[in-house]
Amino acid sequence: MKSAIYPGSFDPVTYGHLDIIKRASEMFDEIIVSVLDNKNKTPLFSVDERVKMLEETTKDLTNVKIDSFSGLLVDYAHSINVPIILRGLRAITDFEYELQNAQNNRILSEGSVDTLFMTTSLEYAYLSSSGVKEIAAFHGNISKCVPPLVEAAIRQKFPKES
Ligand code: PNS
Repeated sequence: MKSAIYPGSFDPVTYGHLDIIKRASEMFDEIIVSVLDNKNKTPLFSVDERVKMLEETTKDLTNVKIDSFSGLLVDYAHSINVPIILRGLRAITDFEYELQNAQNNRILSEGSVDTLFMTTSLEYAYLSSSGVKEIAAFHGNISKCVPPLVEAAIRQKFPKES
C-alpha cells in the first residue's frame, strides 16, 4: 500500500489544504494528514479542534486519515513506517522554506524520508491560514477561504461585540 503523510499546522484547515488532500487521495492508497502539536507556538485552535475540523471536512474521502504528532517529522514518519511527505507549494516564496525542510528531513533521516511537492490549484494560491485568521479577526469575509464549519469555529474565536 502506497501511503503519504501530509503534515502541517492546519490552524485552521483551508480550501487550499483540502484541495491538496483531495488530489493526493486520488494518487495514493492512503493519505495521513497529521497536525503538528508545536509546544513553541500559540495556535488559535487546539490540536483536538484542528483534528476534528480535518476529520469533518475530509469525511467523504475514505482513504484519508487524520492524526497528530509532536517532535521531528522524520521520527514520526519512521514511527508509522511512511517515508513520503507531501507538501503544497503556492508560490516561489514557499519554495525556499520548503526546500530547506525537505533537505533537512533527508539528512536527518539519512535519505530514508523524501518530500514530494504538489502545486496548489491557482484559485487557492493566495490562501493561507494566517491570512484567514487576520481577515477573521477584523470580521472580514472568509467564506471563500474555508468550509462553513471552519468559518463558524473561527467566528466563535472572534465574536463581534454587541
Ligand atoms: O503548516 P506549516 O506550519 O507550514 O507546517 C510546517 C511543518 C509542520 C511541516 C514543519 O514545521 C515540521 O515538519 N515541523 C516538525 C518539526 C521538524 O521536523 N522540523 C524539522 C524540519 S526542518
